[in-house]
Amino acid sequence: MAELQVGHTLRTTLACNWKIFWENYSECYHCPGVHPELCKIVPIYGRSISGPYSDPAYQSHRDDPDPKFQGGLRKGAMTWSMDGQPIGPTFPNLTEEERKLGQRFATIWPTMYAVGHVDYMRLVSMRPLGPEQTELTVEWLFTPEVLADNGADLERVTRFAQLVVEQDGAACELNQAGLRSRAHTQGVLMPQEHGVFAFHEWVRRGLASA
Ligand SMILES: [Fe+2]
Repeated sequence: MAELQVGHTLRTTLACNWKIFWENYSECYHCPGVHPELCKIVPIYGRSISGPYSDPAYQSHRDDPDPKFQGGLRKGAMTWSMDGQPIGPTFPNLTEEERKLGQRFATIWPTMYAVGHVDYMRLVSMRPLGPEQTELTVEWLFTPEVLADNGADLERVTRFAQLVVEQDGAACELNQAGLRSRAHTQGVLMPQEHGVFAFHEWVRRGLASA
């Protein structure tokens, strides 16, 4: 990462509380309805789960190599881009497992997460501007070689995650509006939203020790 450089930045302000952004990030229950393009690249997302660890029936699919059961990218895709193809040479020294996975998330509550792909990285950070306003910054990091290559079509890569971020942003704003509804009392978590529960517990622990 130390050698990578920012090649594209997206900064936007969402009309939602910062915790709504994290709740959205923590589950893929919304994926089929919100991210049709992403579900094509990462087939397991199309089953409303973010990985095999969220699949209650995983034992019965254990030996099925289909990425919709094992996670990872669709056949032929290598990275998150409009056509699934990388922007340039892939990073050296990646394990076979990392290549197969297609994406690896590192989460640092409450301010940012990083996603590593085989050819680039993405950093997403947020800053609360108010109770119902969150500034979001997305940075795409590439190798100096890719950035020096005038023929590299960065947009083919950046447009994909930008689309996903915009879809999530719209869902978060809708969620915030829903919380303001007089009909709303509380939500119900589905089993595949265990990540949301973990986030709630983290917030509750923070409030208890405040
Ligand atoms: Fe999403």
